[in-house]
Amino acid sequence: MCASHPALLPALVGGIDLANRLAVAPMTRVSAAQDGTPTAEMADYYAGFADGGFGLLITEGTYTDTAYSQGYLNQPGIVTARHAAAWRDIADRVHAAGARIVLQLMHAGALSQGNRYRSESVGPSAVPPIGEKMPEYGGHGPWPAPRAMSADDIEEAVRGFAASAARARAAGFDGVEVHAANGYLLDQFLTDYTNRRDDAYGGPVANRVRLTAEVVSAIRAEAGEDFCVGVRLSQTKVNDFVHRWRGGAHDARIIFAALAAAGSSYLHIASEGRDWIETARLDGGLTITGLARQVTGLPVIANGGMHDLAQAAQVLSDGHADVVSVARGALANPDLPRRLAEGVPLEEFDHMMLQPMATLGNARLWRHAAEAPA
Ligand SMILES: Cc1cc2nc3c(=O)[nH]c(=O)nc-3n(C[C@H](O)[C@H](O)[C@H](O)COP(=O)(O)O)c2cc1C
Repeated sequence: MCASHPALLPALVGGIDLANRLAVAPMTRVSAAQDGTPTAEMADYYAGFADGGFGLLITEGTYTDTAYSQGYLNQPGIVTARHAAAWRDIADRVHAAGARIVLQLMHAGALSQGNRYRSESVGPSAVPPIGEKMPEYGGHGPWPAPRAMSADDIEEAVRGFAASAARARAAGFDGVEVHAANGYLLDQFLTDYTNRRDDAYGGPVANRVRLTAEVVSAIRAEAGEDFCVGVRLSQTKVNDFVHRWRGGAHDARIIFAALAAAGSSYLHIASEGRDWIETARLDGGLTITGLARQVTGLPVIANGGMHDLAQAAQVLSDGHADVVSVARGALANPDLPRRLAEGVPLEEFDHMMLQPMATLGNARLWRHAAEAPA
């Protein structure tokens, strides 16, 4: 690989000018203070990716209210003045190093496994999530069934997203990304088997995407027309690596069009637990990311195994996406863009770095052990 790789070209996404097309994908690190305040260690962690040359950093999923949004203990929030002040330091560090930073806004819904504000979880319907809680983020055992959300609960969740986006803007973020992927609240509404509602939010896919569209519109109204508001979507989920949108390209078109009409600035298609090539394929030679571009005309970020730099080049050159986001590959190579530009081979990701929990402290211990003389 060399300096002519298409990922090294600049891009404009939602009004944000990026030095290149390499983004750090959102990664939960459960390393904030107990009250959800980001720490100095987190600031160093994010600044490290900016120093390493990434054009865009998308933060870990950050909770949006003091009701039901929090998903894990030690997850950061963007709810209090303390949260916002600590995030401002992080945004400033990242900007000083020449990168851009977008805050991922997350409501965990039924997949909450640690919430200091509430002891029960909520979701579209009282359907217990499949699978078990995730030990890497401090959970054990089966998920309880959530309480089905009332109209007031829905309104409170939407307000949380909108107010948090405004706080993110005031704290200096270049934009926000609405987490509607991977099985969390907004994806629970989108997914046929977790959404059994018979109101305007349930039934056909056009209804199931309504809540995410309302969140985008509410953010636009509160944070401004010129603020970057991305949306992250996925077919797979943290607790279901094989799920596919039942209607395939037909459903995808409806989802993408609704989110574009609501005012999204970009779409980010995640690929939890699988590579892009596996989850992106649709019938007729289409890819889900390429279709998102076609339907909306918006910039699209592709994700899933993009540390395979030949795949990343193909995705960008063949028009499947505008930007690629890297998660595990960025943990192993915080300086991935510099390595790519200079032709330095990448380090392989070692999952032990996230054991027994995906904290920054455990990654530090893993690094010390790896660097210790044999
Ligand atoms: C430690 C870790 C934490 C993650 N946390 C989040 C998160 O907070 N929000 C999110 O949308 N995706 C999250 N993901 C999923 C990644 O953003 C990404 O979609 C997935 O790892 C596939 O990309 P990759 O092949 O580059 O690793 C996480 C992944 C990892 C490895």
